[in-house]
Parts: sequence; C-alpha cells; structure tokens
Amino acid sequence: MSREIRGRRDVPGANASAREHLEQILPRLDAVLGTTTTSERLAFDLRLKHRFQDLHDGLEPVYGVRDDFHEILTRLVLSMAEAWVERSPELKALDLERDLIPDWFQRESMLGYVFYVENFADTLNGVHEHLDYLAETGTSYVHLMKVLQARTGENDGGYAIVDYKRVEPALGTNRDLAELCRALRQRGMSVCIDLVLNHCAREHAWAVAAREGSAHFRDYFHHFPDRTLPDQYEQTLPEVFPDFAPGNFTWETQSERWIWTTFNDYQWDLNWSNPEVFLEIVDIMQTLANLGVEVLRLDAVAFLWKRLGTNSQNQEEVFDLLQALRACSRIATPAVAHKAEAIVSPDDLIRYLGTGKRFGRVANIAYHNALMVHYWSSLASRDTRLMTHALGEFPRTPGTIAWATYLRCHDDIGWAIADDDAEAVGIDGFAHRAFLSEYYTGVFPGSHARGSVFQHNPQTGDRRVNGSLASLAGLEFAVEQQDEQLITLAIERILLGHALIAGHGGLPLIYMGDEIGLLSDTDYARDPAHADDSRWVHRPRMDWDRAARRHQPSTIEARLYNGIAHIVRTRSALPHLHASIGTDIIDTGHARIFTCERKHPLGPFLGLYNMTEERQYLPLTELHRAGITHAIDRLADEPPVVSGGFVVLAPYERQWLIENPERS
Ligand code: GLC
Repeated sequence: MSREIRGRRDVPGANASAREHLEQILPRLDAVLGTTTTSERLAFDLRLKHRFQDLHDGLEPVYGVRDDFHEILTRLVLSMAEAWVERSPELKALDLERDLIPDWFQRESMLGYVFYVENFADTLNGVHEHLDYLAETGTSYVHLMKVLQARTGENDGGYAIVDYKRVEPALGTNRDLAELCRALRQRGMSVCIDLVLNHCAREHAWAVAAREGSAHFRDYFHHFPDRTLPDQYEQTLPEVFPDFAPGNFTWETQSERWIWTTFNDYQWDLNWSNPEVFLEIVDIMQTLANLGVEVLRLDAVAFLWKRLGTNSQNQEEVFDLLQALRACSRIATPAVAHKAEAIVSPDDLIRYLGTGKRFGRVANIAYHNALMVHYWSSLASRDTRLMTHALGEFPRTPGTIAWATYLRCHDDIGWAIADDDAEAVGIDGFAHRAFLSEYYTGVFPGSHARGSVFQHNPQTGDRRVNGSLASLAGLEFAVEQQDEQLITLAIERILLGHALIAGHGGLPLIYMGDEIGLLSDTDYARDPAHADDSRWVHRPRMDWDRAARRHQPSTIEARLYNGIAHIVRTRSALPHLHASIGTDIIDTGHARIFTCERKHPLGPFLGLYNMTEERQYLPLTELHRAGITHAIDRLADEPPVVSGGFVVLAPYERQWLIENPERS
C-alpha cells in the first residue's frame, strides 16, 4: 500500500523501512535525472534500488535516531544522482563493464605498482613518459601517492590534506590527473589514490572555519573545552607516534579547545558522528571517481569511531559507515573499488572485508599485514612454525574480496606478532618482537639487515623498523662487502618474498624501486619537511639509470627485475591464483618450509617456500596428500627435484606445484 493511499504524505518516521524512505526519495530524482537517456536512468535506478538497503542499513545505526535522517538519505541520493549525471560516457561504460566483470580486481593477472608521483616522475604529466615501464612490469593497478593537496611543510607523507578535491599543485592539475587516469586505463591499468578518512590538515578550510568560531564546522571535529574527557579517553588509547606526536589531543589556542589528533598535532580527526562529514566525504569520493580514479584507498579507517573506555579502533560504527560508503560507490560510480587500510589484528581485519550480515559489503581489498610481518619473521628466525601457526589461524575470507599482499610499503614495519600465537609454538612474543627489531636494525649478531628503529615506545617495548626491501633483505650489506655469494642470497630472499605474495591469491603490490633493488636513502633528512620522519628512508627517488640496467644481463637490477617479471608472468597464467579461491596454510611439521594450498576446481595448487639459506627436504607424501601425484613446478617449468622420497628445495627456493597436465 502506498503512503499516499494511506493518507500519510509525511516524511518517513523513526522506524521507517529502507523501502519507505526510498519510495519518498525516488520522485525527487526526476529533477536531477530528467535529462538523462532512458538507459542511463534505468542503470541508475536499478543500482539505487539494488543497493539502497545496504546504504540504509549502514547509516541507520549511526544516524537513524536523528529527526533529519530521511533528509540525510535524500541529500545523499540526490548527490549521487548529480554525480552520475556528471560522469563521463567513458566512465559510465567502465561502470557497465564492472557490473559484468565484478571480479576484475581479483584476477590472477592483477599486479599493483605503488609510487610517490614526485619520486617516480616529478609530476603527473611526467608519469606518461614511463607508461611503457609500467606496462613492461605487467602492472594493472597503479597506486599514485601524495596526489591530493596536502599542507606545506610537514604533512605525514601527504596524509594531511588541505583540499581533497584538488591535486597537489606541484604535481599538476585535476585535468592532468584525469588525463593520466585515462592514459593508464587505455593501457589496462587502474588508478588507486589515497582518501584520508580519519583526519584532515589543521589548514583545511573546515578546520580553519572551526578555529574561527563556526559552530557548524567545529562539529566536523572532536573538540573539548577542557581535559576532563580527553583524560578519560587517554586511559585506553594507544599512541600512534609516541616519539614525535605523543598523546591523542592537541590544544588549539585560537579556539581554546582540545582537538582530537590521533596522528600528528596538525592532523585533526574528523567527527563521523556528524552526518555532514559523511555527506562531504561522499561528495569527495564522487569527484575523485569522476576524474577517473578506480580504487580508493581508505586510509586509517580503523580510527573513524571513538568510544570511551576502548582503544577507539574497529568500533562497530566503523563498519556501518564503510558499508554505507561502499553502497554509495556501488550506486553512483560502480567502477570504483574500495581498499581498506586497517593494520589491525586478524580478527578485526577480516571485518573490513565484510563478514556475517556484511558479507561482501564493506571493502573489496584490504592489506595482508600479517603475511608481510611473517615473511620477515620467518626469514630472521629461519623457522616457519610461527608463520604457519599464525597464518593458519587466519579467518577465512569471503570469495568476493582480494588481499593486497606486499613485502614493503611507504610505512614502517610494526612487529604484529600476537602473544598467543607465539605461545602456541613455544616462544615468547615480547622476546621475539625484540629479536625482530634487533635483527632488522643489524644489531643482532650475524644479521645482514640494515634497517633503523622507528617510534621506540619504552612503555610497550615496541621498536618498529624502517628500511627498503633490499636493505632489510641483506642486499645493502652484501653489496658493501662485494660478496657475490651474499648478493645471490639476498636476491633469492627478495624473489622468495615476491613469489610468496604473488602466490597467495589477491593483489600483489610492488613498492616502487623494489623491482630493481633500491637501497634505503639516508639523504632523506636533507629535506627539512622530511627530516623528522625517518620513514622517508624507504621512500627514495626512482633511479632511472639503475632501472636501465635491468636490460644488462647479470646485473643485480636485471636479476631482480627479470626474476619478478617471471613470477608475474607465471602467476597470470595460473587460474589457481584468482583471489576468490581461499588459501589454506598446511602444517607439514617442517620447521623451515612454509606451505600453502589452494583448492581450485582445476586441481590443487601447492606453494612451497624455503625460508632459509640451507637446502631443505619435504616428504613427497605432502604432495600426494594434496592430490598431486605428478607434480610440475610452474615457476621452474619443470618437475621438482625429488630424492629418496623427498622434494628438494634449494636455498630460498619457491615452488608453485600443480598436477602436471602432461602426465595425468
Ligand atoms: C596510514 C598511512 C600512514 C599515515 C597514517 C595517517 O597508516 O599509511 O603513512 O601516517 O595513515 O594518515
């Protein structure tokens, strides 16, 4: 029965259903969509009807008690319709394509390449000169970093935004970004950029207005007149940057308020309990999507919702909000995928991929931080038992998502080793974390790693580590020593890691320069804006001279580059590595080899990784147990070496085994 027949034309009330809200909103769309073609209108209406429930269910727990809830929903839908009208025909075609190929980001052919535009090519226009390089690496996803306008001076590597809708002027214009997105898309590459959801810069117009006394904008932030509440919150809040930004609140003299600043004092946390913030962010998402951005990396999402008495991370409302944001993209800009940046424990992490009632509704991609940490941990200890146990305990992922797998990124490495995982394999978590810090800073006897400590926290004992992949993996030391054998071992260690992340299913990300073994850059401190943040040590400029050496046989660059290219090519011919297939960690009882299995309808896939510089032997029965009787190692393109009933793995060897189609 329609509302009109019942004689109630009023706004849907507190307990109205999603359908009732939508019924009232639909007629209002005519004013915006009236000029679109019938098929475009149909596409928008269908997507809206299909996803409105998700949007409603995400927002209802957060804003549902407000009198203006219906108005909020209406404003949102109208803004989505406007974004759709403004969307280019080319992007609308991509939307349609993605409706038909929803697994595009899960495919075994996907490879991500991540770089700071300023380090890779100076400007956005400069990137055009390197499209061949990107294509040659097999890249299909490009994460452009530090693209939106950040505050001048210190800006947390670009994560303190002053204008979300404007490209950093030093890099180019919005039009340049749109053109680069188009050029990359034409070569089969999707652009990802960061969208910092938790905070903006204190110089952002919202923060400026708040400081100048606007009550409207003050409520975009968490502000307190005195220390009463901040002190209560602090009791259970951790510190993200204990060294250079201790505490979570900053006194602002102009407005005489304490402002919530989880990260640096110039990064003001946004108040997501205010629906105006949600509406602003949706508007920004649509602007970026309409410039041609295809993946939004939602930065620091764990922190969006604050709750007294907790660590104010991973609160239920975070997932409500993310579900609602996801629904907005699916309605107005469906080509766009969401990647959640949540470096949290596995049980919380899995929630960002949408579990239970939120199955498939929260984000499409999330970082697999644990795989990265355990790669480094196993290499240092020459022992895979902790890795096997911890990753074996990992919750199963929904088949609609992809892990972003990586060895290094622009951030430090925090030793996220859980005490109970360590205990389960008979080691002490605290001592192991301390060992990893010492190992990777080269302090531990026999270590070849050359990292540095970041944010030592004396209270927790945490010592995070900075350093480039090559420097942490021993290449810097080996080159210094001019020791060919050590160089070979370092290269093999690095290639082992790339095979590990490429063989796990998901979206492997290569961090710029790692493909040619760029070392840590200790010159970073010459730039005053970087001097206080030692993470810049692993954010070097691209060395194009070294990159050119990838074509000179037997150089380090060629060995690394060609080794990675081979892994990438092999991966893209293996449907077993499609991200919809789950990864099972196999406990073979072998303490030096990490083993995982993927059960694809085409047959089993077994990944074997020797995490040591010694030869290792795995009983052949492990292959039989997985259902592989005549194995072929796809990486070597030949059957594995077998001796006396054992598969033999050379130092740091990785094998991707499937049933040999020519034998079965
Ligand atoms: C994310 C970024 C990191 C930044 C933080 C705050 O974790 O990766 O570089 O410092 O968010 O924005």
